[in-house]
Amino acid sequence: MDALRIRGGAPLSGNIKVSGSKNAALPALAASLLCEGTHELSRVPDLADVKTLLGLLQSMGATSSREKDSVRIDATKVDKLEAPYDLVRTMRASILVLGPLVARFGRAKVSLPGGCAIGARPIDQHLKGLERLGARITLEHGYVLAECGRLRGAEVLFDMPTVTGTENLMLAATLAEGTTVLRNAAREPEITDLADLLATMGARVEGAGSDTITIHGVNKLKPYKHRVVADRIEYGTFLVAGAMAGERLVIEDGVPEHQTALTDKLRDIGARVELDGTRVTVHRATKPKAIDVVTAPYPGFPTDMQAQLMALLAVADGASVITETIFENRFMHVPELSRMGAQVRVDGGKAFVQGTAKLSGTTVMATDLRASACLVLAGLIASGETTVRRIYHLDRGYEQLERKLMSVGARIERFVEA
Ligand code: EPU
Repeated sequence: MDALRIRGGAPLSGNIKVSGSKNAALPALAASLLCEGTHELSRVPDLADVKTLLGLLQSMGATSSREKDSVRIDATKVDKLEAPYDLVRTMRASILVLGPLVARFGRAKVSLPGGCAIGARPIDQHLKGLERLGARITLEHGYVLAECGRLRGAEVLFDMPTVTGTENLMLAATLAEGTTVLRNAAREPEITDLADLLATMGARVEGAGSDTITIHGVNKLKPYKHRVVADRIEYGTFLVAGAMAGERLVIEDGVPEHQTALTDKLRDIGARVELDGTRVTVHRATKPKAIDVVTAPYPGFPTDMQAQLMALLAVADGASVITETIFENRFMHVPELSRMGAQVRVDGGKAFVQGTAKLSGTTVMATDLRASACLVLAGLIASGETTVRRIYHLDRGYEQLERKLMSVGARIERFVEA
């Protein structure tokens, strides 16, 4: 298993580039199931999760090829309408094939994902929405079976904004008969990116980015050609790295307005963040100040940035409170961060962080994707050496994170653990 060894204390300076978004690429790949022909997706990050979804599409009969950051997918010959447990278990986003399969073929069989490290993460909203569109849903032997003739447009009111739930319903509704209105829809930039992609297929989607999305179903779609939006979580992770260790760290190719909530917080902490189009320059906070933060659906503070921000607040002057409202178990990084000297007490959905002068390097273990990023960031400023184990989590969602950080001065080495 690969691990990272980080020698802390090196300042970060120079230019670093943001890749395409993992969480936008995954629904984009699922959208290829909607019609025959060859789709072209560019700026696709080379990540384990992307490979998993391509593997799933292939297991259904699709073909794909990759050249540099572009992927071509042809789902013309898809005939196995099933997402097996072993794939869904490793990547919950596999559930995104459910909507397009039912819409195009009238049936699908997808494993129930089960819980995961960060929480229970049910898919009841996906299923309720598809039922509203006329699919008959049954649960059997751990699988969701969905069947229908042609889906029919309907009003769907989500109990909470759900990102992949909104995406699944958008994908399904494109080919439904009549109009679908999704209320209390998620507003994340990945939703808007999916709507842009669907428009190139001839779908009629209005309102993406707001809490009400209207989809007028069409009879037929054509293959898409689309460039994936910048990964706002990778961008945000670099922002926090800059706020911790930046000496003029320049982040390129991100979309700064997708991280307004984080940028505001970093400025409150004392970092200097200068925006200039898609170029952002960050100088570290020399005396980081404690702040409070509450995670919320977009445009609120992202749950996917909470762990990374904690690494910075661990060395702030004073006491910070981080309130996690999206997932019930997203403080898995705390025990590991505490082993590096952070003083954090978790009580339910709140983490009380008492800033300390210094973190000290040791061996820590990653438990999920964003927790891993938190530990890498902590390693950048810790005294001595930090070894982050089980970084396969990191490889699921960050494209060459250590190489990018090394190119701006971080001292990191990847090695295979005995
Ligand atoms: N929820 C339900 N029922 C549902 C769907 C969601 O109760 O049917 C709940 C969830 O349990 C959670 C809340 O609603 O409490 C929001 O979950 P959401 O459905 O929005 O999460 P998701 O779509 O499964 C995506 C990202 C996550 C990100 C969350 C929140 C993808 C592939 N994943 O997950 O990304 O944390 O939205 O923004 O887009 C990551 O990249 O590390 C990651 C976990």
